[in-house]
Amino acid sequence: MVFTPESLPDMSGRVFIVTGGNAGLGFETAKALAFKNAKVYIGARSAPKAETAIATIQSTLPATTTASLHHLPIDHMDLSTIVTAAHTFLAAEPLLHGLILNAGIMCTPYQLSTNGHEAHWQTNYLAHFLLTALLLPTLQATAQRDDVPIGTVRIVEMTSAAYLWASGAGIAFEAIDLPRGKPFDRYVQSKLANILHIRELQARVGPKGSQPQRGEIWTAAVHPGLNDTGLAASYGASSLFGRTMIKLGFAAKPEKGAYGVILAAASNDFARSWSGCYIVPPAKKSTYYRQANDRNLQEKLWSWTEDELKRLGFLQ
Ligand SMILES: NC(=O)c1ccc[n+]([C@@H]2O[C@H](COP(=O)([O-])OP(=O)(O)OC[C@H]3O[C@@H](n4cnc5c(N)ncnc54)[C@H](OP(=O)(O)O)[C@@H]3O)[C@@H](O)[C@H]2O)c1
Repeated sequence: MVFTPESLPDMSGRVFIVTGGNAGLGFETAKALAFKNAKVYIGARSAPKAETAIATIQSTLPATTTASLHHLPIDHMDLSTIVTAAHTFLAAEPLLHGLILNAGIMCTPYQLSTNGHEAHWQTNYLAHFLLTALLLPTLQATAQRDDVPIGTVRIVEMTSAAYLWASGAGIAFEAIDLPRGKPFDRYVQSKLANILHIRELQARVGPKGSQPQRGEIWTAAVHPGLNDTGLAASYGASSLFGRTMIKLGFAAKPEKGAYGVILAAASNDFARSWSGCYIVPPAKKSTYYRQANDRNLQEKLWSWTEDELKRLGFLQ
């Protein structure tokens, strides 16, 4: 049976963060969760965009809703805002049931962040790693509670089938910002890093053994397919192939493209045995290939990232 968000259970009392929740697939995800009465924090760099998104979602909710939506100011191009966002969230909320790492850019020109990293690498990957690290103790504490059913607490990370284009070892540790590569190469590397991150999280905090355990966090990496969003537009602007695919109508509507991430974040149809898996359209479990299966690479990238975030002063 094909998943649709209508089948989600009631989310009253559950708290989610959706990065990039002001637009595209993140917006649709926030909306679907709010429809089931969740409290949703929309990570967004622009207050007007976040407020417009919140007002738009609120205007569609039934009068009986108990959902609430909040803007969590975050600019992935400045890691200090990730730290501030985590502190702001933790000052307001003792629990976190779902962390949806969705914000992203694709095929934008080479640009360095405030912290000296290339825009794709930092926006799509590094900022999400830091946000996860700062919120992991709260996710774990939430998953330990007797009143939170096992499997409620989840981390879902947006990736892309573009990761299959990763060349060589997959991650260019010697030139991680790929200054000599093309924009697509930088997108590809960041999307492979999203998968390696989720797989290492799965190894560290995901389910172990056959018996469900209090405290376990369920994870997934999601490829949403080609969807008609701002990101696809910037891909289309940079590539004849992308432009042609969009023109020919191969891009899906974002409300459908978000089914996979919504399933992984909140559905009872997402089984414990699926934790750590790769979800593809239409919201079904698939298989990882190539460098995504390299266990050493998962560990190596995790330790490179921790060292780098310590060097930059954002992790202890
Ligand atoms: N659409 C597709 O076809 C497709 C295919 C494969 C994978 N994906 C993945 O799906 C995810 C969502 O993409 P989408 O298609 O929904 O794209 P989108 O409509 O362009 O939305 C991207 C979101 O990320 C936010 N963002 C970008 N840079 C940011 C920054 N520096 N700080 C904070 N937020 C930032 C954007 O905020 P602003 O509005 O402020 O820019 C926006 O909310 C991405 O991770 C992407 O890689 C999408």
